[in-house]
Amino acid sequence: MICILLVIFGNQFLKAQKIKTEIRPAKVWLDSNGNSINAHGGGVLFNKGVYYWYGEHKLEGKSEAQFADGGIHCYSSTDLVNWKNEGIVLTVNYKDEKSDLAYGCILERPKVVYNSKNKEFVAYFKLYLKGVGYDSNYVGVAVSDKPNGPFTYHHKFRGGGTNKGSGDFSMFKDDDGILYHLAVRKPDKAFVIGKMDPDYYFPEGDYQVCKGVKVHSEAPAIIKRNGIYHMLGSGSKGWKPNPARYHTTESILGTWTFHGNPCKGYNPVDNLGIEKTFGGQASYIILVQGKKDTYIAMFDIWKPKNPITGRYIWLPIDFSEGEMSISWQDSWQLSTSIKK
Ligand code: GAL
Repeated sequence: MICILLVIFGNQFLKAQKIKTEIRPAKVWLDSNGNSINAHGGGVLFNKGVYYWYGEHKLEGKSEAQFADGGIHCYSSTDLVNWKNEGIVLTVNYKDEKSDLAYGCILERPKVVYNSKNKEFVAYFKLYLKGVGYDSNYVGVAVSDKPNGPFTYHHKFRGGGTNKGSGDFSMFKDDDGILYHLAVRKPDKAFVIGKMDPDYYFPEGDYQVCKGVKVHSEAPAIIKRNGIYHMLGSGSKGWKPNPARYHTTESILGTWTFHGNPCKGYNPVDNLGIEKTFGGQASYIILVQGKKDTYIAMFDIWKPKNPITGRYIWLPIDFSEGEMSISWQDSWQLSTSIKK
């Protein structure tokens, strides 16, 4: 018995101790305890030397049709490769059926932003209420005074400027501290932008349509580089992968230019090329700290029948030709694979 226990714990220890140096897109990604990372549709925040990866915690044994969303799961890392489990930082409510977060709600695409005025971390997520599903279209807001939570549910709002709310979104904080909510407006799926108030709690003023953005664009991920805003996204096909979309603008409230699909290459793990974005859908772009001009595109491979097995595609973004280009790599290292 003792021997068996030693073998089990020994294996766990070995699994946990292995320091990774490579990012391997579309392969199983283990955390520092040796468990698969469970943070889908996520985003990354950098705070005081540490990256925090927030994503959808998918429940074991549930399909999307059986309500697989368990809340926001957080991991932390100093190198973007080795991730420590920080646990579920906002959980759905299993006891109170009337709660906005009652189990059975849909809680997707969490993104966290730091509000320096209130010294507060604010988490946003797509929130569709229990029993109403994809018709309720809210943005849920939760807050914490620490990046690794716990987060407390604060309120919900309907974004997009209509009473039908919004779908996939990005929260983009500009250099002047103004936070924008860029989202798919329901029901017409126009892509719109609205300013958030200084607390970052509610949209302030009207939304406007982002001129030039292709209709039915989803999964927006935005960065600002050398004064230009770059947006990676997808078309609108539910969980099904489709070609990535790339738009830029010189003014966040101005007109965007469409540049087609910035991806190149082929994912041999899933046998999928760029017409399916290697099997992925965009979720966020990470600005790598301490390196010049270094960005990572995050995509999700969705598995709606067994969402907890969904994988991640993280690839470096190459800006050497001025425009974003994302090439498939079987494995890569932050130190060597990024071209300026
Ligand atoms: C995707 C969206 C996901 C999820 C899915 C449901 O397009 O990006 O977050 O909502 O549709 O069909």
